[in-house]
Amino acid sequence: MASSETIDRIRSFWDADAAGYDKIPGHYPQTPAQWAAWRGALEPLLPPAPSRVLDVGAGTGFLSLVVAGLGHAVTAVDLSGQMLARLTAKASAHQLAVTAIQAGADEVPRERFDVVMSRHLLWTLPDPEGALRAWRTAAPAGRLLLVESVWGEGQSAADRICAHGRRLARRLAAAPTGHHAEYGEASTRALPFAGGLSPERLVDLVQRAGWQTPRLRRLTGVEWILGRQLPWPERLFGTQPVYAIRAD
Ligand SMILES: C[S@@+](CC[C@H](N)C(=O)[O-])C[C@H]1O[C@@H](n2cnc3c(N)ncnc32)[C@H](O)[C@@H]1O
Repeated sequence: MASSETIDRIRSFWDADAAGYDKIPGHYPQTPAQWAAWRGALEPLLPPAPSRVLDVGAGTGFLSLVVAGLGHAVTAVDLSGQMLARLTAKASAHQLAVTAIQAGADEVPRERFDVVMSRHLLWTLPDPEGALRAWRTAAPAGRLLLVESVWGEGQSAADRICAHGRRLARRLAAAPTGHHAEYGEASTRALPFAGGLSPERLVDLVQRAGWQTPRLRRLTGVEWILGRQLPWPERLFGTQPVYAIRAD
C-alpha cells in the first residue's frame, strides 16, 4: 500500500508539470499529421465505436482525446486536478464528451467499460501489478490497452546510444526536454519502475495481473511521423520506440 505522502508528492509533481506538459512532442501531438498517425495506430486496437473506454492516468488527455475523436465514450481518471483541468478544457473546445474524475489509478469507477487504457502511467505507480488487477474489475469482459515508450532501464544497448544522441542534440539546440523537475529520491524509492520498464517485463506484469493473451505491437507509423518532424541533428538518432500491448 502506497503511503499518502508518496501519493501527495506525486500529485504535486504533476500539478506543477501540467502547464508545460503538452509542449513536448513525445508527450502530446504537435501537428495534424501526428494526430492522424495516432488515430491510425489506435483505431485497430479498439473495438468498433462507440465503446465505453476508461483512460487511467489520463493526464492532459492525449489518449482520451484521440479515442473520443474516434467516436468512443471516454471516462478519464487522474490524480492531478491540474492535468485534468487541461484535459477538460481541450475536450470542451473540441466538443468531445470526456468525463473526468480526479482519483487514484486503483480507484476505478463502478461502471463497466469495454476497454481500460493507459499511457506512461505504470512507471509512476507504487503497485503497478495491483492497479492492473483492479482494472480487470472495470472491464471484466473487455480489453486492456497500454501505450508505452522505451526509455531508461527498459532500453537495449542500441536504444541507449540513440537516446544519448537525442539528448545531446536537444541540449545543443536548447530545446525543451521533459518535465519541470526530476522526481525526487523519496518518490523514486517508492516506485518499482521509476527507472523505466522494458516491454518484456511489462508483458510479464500484464499476465501476472490476470490479463490474457497479450499482443505486443510496435507503433511504427507514429515513430515515422515523429521522426520526420524532428529537427536536425536530432533526426539522425531517430525516435524513442513506441509500442502498444493489448490483452483480454
Ligand atoms: C507521464 S503522465 C501521462 C499522462 C497521459 N496518460 C499521457 O499519455 O500523456 C502520468 C500521469 O499519471 C498521473 N498519475 C500519477 N500517479 C497516479 C496515480 N496513482 N493515480 C492516477 N493517476 C496518476 C499523473 O497525474 C500524470 O497525469
